[in-house]
Amino acid sequence: MRTQTASNLYQRARAVLPGGVTANARTNPALGEPFYVSRSEGPFVYDLDGRRVIDLCMSNGATLLGHGHPAVVAAVRRAADLGFACAYDGEAQVALAERLVEQIPCFELVRFTTSGTEATFYVVRIARAYTGRTKVLKFEGQFHGFNDPLAFSFWPLPEEGGPADAPIARPETAGLPANAERDVVVAPFNDSAAFRRALDRVGDELAAVIMEPISYDVGAILPDPAFLKLVRDETARRGIVLIFDEVLSGYRTGPDCAQGYLGVTPDLSTLGKAIGGGVPLSVFGGRRELMSVVSPLGSAIHTGTYNAHLIPILAAHAFLDTIGRDGFYDHLLGIHQRLYAGLRQAFAEAGLPVRLQGVGARFGMYFGLDPAVEVTRYRQAARFDREMMNRFCREMHVRGVYVNPAWHHGLSAMHGDSEVDRIVEAAAESAQAISAANG
Ligand SMILES: Cc1ncc(COP(=O)(O)O)c(C=O)c1O
Repeated sequence: MRTQTASNLYQRARAVLPGGVTANARTNPALGEPFYVSRSEGPFVYDLDGRRVIDLCMSNGATLLGHGHPAVVAAVRRAADLGFACAYDGEAQVALAERLVEQIPCFELVRFTTSGTEATFYVVRIARAYTGRTKVLKFEGQFHGFNDPLAFSFWPLPEEGGPADAPIARPETAGLPANAERDVVVAPFNDSAAFRRALDRVGDELAAVIMEPISYDVGAILPDPAFLKLVRDETARRGIVLIFDEVLSGYRTGPDCAQGYLGVTPDLSTLGKAIGGGVPLSVFGGRRELMSVVSPLGSAIHTGTYNAHLIPILAAHAFLDTIGRDGFYDHLLGIHQRLYAGLRQAFAEAGLPVRLQGVGARFGMYFGLDPAVEVTRYRQAARFDREMMNRFCREMHVRGVYVNPAWHHGLSAMHGDSEVDRIVEAAAESAQAISAANG
């Protein structure tokens, strides 16, 4: 729903911001202009004219607790009362590290940074420092932020990605160092034979295999257990560091994250988004032996003025306190299951072909794909109907629900049954409208 207020702001924004946005992902191909938000509260965001909209984006997954969760707000206020001096350590930082080491299977030593992009940057540096090798294998259709060694093959169109079982490393941005693709190997997720072939070819040169353990950046694709076991066994056997990038998967399935849920422990892992309760925090950590290359124990540098800033550190304590309360995950996972069932029924009744897949508290909607066929590979997912998705986002927006035209969506702990009912009702009407227009 376009408004004059939003259009006016977009016009001002274009004069001073490239493309009128502060981040690429804030362009909105469905609405034709950014979705501007004046404030947020619990499951809701408010547009510039004060219209209340139910949020299904939830800060791309960062506000898993809900917008402005009272525990997080209190933590931020406490940090302000304490003066939030940064570039100093204190009790809160050490205590947070202790809690994470206790909770996350692979963590023996951890460090804090601000964004997911920084966390994945550092784990690659650590793997390289530890192994003395340079190359990194990543999976097509997985996203790890925009740092140079990993800025390849996030979401190539199938015709641009090379053969499905031997994808090329396709740069996702201009401005990479010359020959950067020499240091990256791209393999298809969930394809054991292709993974074996890649290792036979370059296994001796690989510092790391980095993966989203659950492929949420293309909706919600679970790893095939045999594939995941192969990845874990072969990386261990060949001395390759296995990294789980849990910036998005962290806390979607439970307090021990995807590695606990899947029962597979990587060597290093990242966390981001949810852990900060909506303020910027990321974490990386792993086995003591590996993390011991980090300075001052070793010579891989990790430092930064804003690392472990008191605001996100106290917010993360509030986050962990909140998810540790009895019934937290029962509610969070319960409302998601209710939403998934409702959306599937809405699409089916309208005769709209949409495959919905959800794992825990995040899900993908593959418009135009057969609802009955599980999406297990990126190349399947990539064939979704973008125009149908954009249309759905527009229809939902008119009905007071914000759906980001992106791969993944989710509720928060502050969504309840009434919001789920409202979303499902809006989806049913939207799906009917699209079906009717398609004839
Ligand atoms: C799996 C994963 N890794 C890394 C990142 C980058 O995180 P940030 O946007 O905080 O830099 C993202 C962001 O969406 C992500 O989903």
